[in-house]
Amino acid sequence: MQALGQSIGSRPAGSAKEREAADYIATQLQGYGYQVERQSFPFTRFNDGGSRLSVLQPITEELHPNTLVQSRSGDVEGPLVLVGLGQAGDFPPAVGGAIALIERGTNTFKDKVANAAAAGAKGAIIYNNQPGGFRGNIGEATAIPAASISQEEGKHLADLIARGSVNVHLSVQTTLEQVNSQNVIGTRKGASPRSIVVGAHFDSVPAGPGANDNASGTATMLEIARIMALADHPLSLYFIAFGAEELGLYGSKHFVSSLEAEQLRQIVGMVNLDMVGVGDRLKVGGSKDLEQKSMAVAERMGVEVSSLGTESTGLSDHGSFVAAGVPAVLIHYIDDPRYHTAQDTVQYVRPENLAAAGKWALEIMRELMGG
Ligand code: BES
Ligand code: ZN
Repeated sequence: MQALGQSIGSRPAGSAKEREAADYIATQLQGYGYQVERQSFPFTRFNDGGSRLSVLQPITEELHPNTLVQSRSGDVEGPLVLVGLGQAGDFPPAVGGAIALIERGTNTFKDKVANAAAAGAKGAIIYNNQPGGFRGNIGEATAIPAASISQEEGKHLADLIARGSVNVHLSVQTTLEQVNSQNVIGTRKGASPRSIVVGAHFDSVPAGPGANDNASGTATMLEIARIMALADHPLSLYFIAFGAEELGLYGSKHFVSSLEAEQLRQIVGMVNLDMVGVGDRLKVGGSKDLEQKSMAVAERMGVEVSSLGTESTGLSDHGSFVAAGVPAVLIHYIDDPRYHTAQDTVQYVRPENLAAAGKWALEIMRELMGG
């Protein structure tokens, strides 16, 4: 955990630090006796070069937009038109050639921006429906530049529009870049064609060293691998450190797509460890069957756990397995107040949390192997 979350530090997807972390993990798995493969894959990285929004008329002023992730790059100038929530019927003809000012809420960012583009708008600005600004992700490339602003700036613009015509200049600078990331896969074949996958992503956000997210899960996965190598087991075991999780679960998606349908069917369960070092409450979420099995295992162990349910909106690599029909769960501790910040450092990671998560995962594996 210290090697990844402190010595190497921040490990953004596609960076040299991510490769350095992959080398470290590969060496560890090799040392435990696993057959190790580095599985490289390309993905498209969205880079935000910043946004600017200037009011040109009736006054001149600079506002404070945030680029909406997946916005196309563009520089547009024109009248600003208020269009409510940006639902299909909300757009007046005046929006043609104009910039649409849309309120957050009800429909998705993707819907709002696509509807604005279809109505002829050449730019879209989404203002918050609660105080303050926000950062949003549209999910797929847009046809027009799109940015977000705070509720306060949104209301200010709406007030100006109510009094007369408003002209603005919106500039959103973004680029798409092909970069490479990699998974590190440690394999140990058993006599049975069936298999178990234990996984954890090892990349981090650029903002910080990702000690809890997710050096904690990677370290726990490695320790489980070390222990499982001490004896023979009937099932094949895959220990996988996933790359490029933080930008869209790219590593786990790539691994799943690299398997044949028959190989996927042979996976009896996948256990994903993500953020297991901070917080007091041990949680499990994912495929209903495996989630229930995991809770029964914990109960037998006398460990208090509960279902993640809707308590977190966080996505992680088990989702790629669930989407492919493989029973998969996330093991996770809540809450981490330093999530995705520069303060997600090793000093806050509790060794006893890693131990509890790891012991539980080991018991779930025993259960999956038939007790
Ligand atoms: N570790 C988080 C996911 C998470 C957060 C799980 C909180 C449980 C509680 C993960 O690394 C992450 O940040 N995922 C992104 C999704 C990704 C597809 C961009 C997220 O949840 O926003
Ligand atoms: Zn994570």
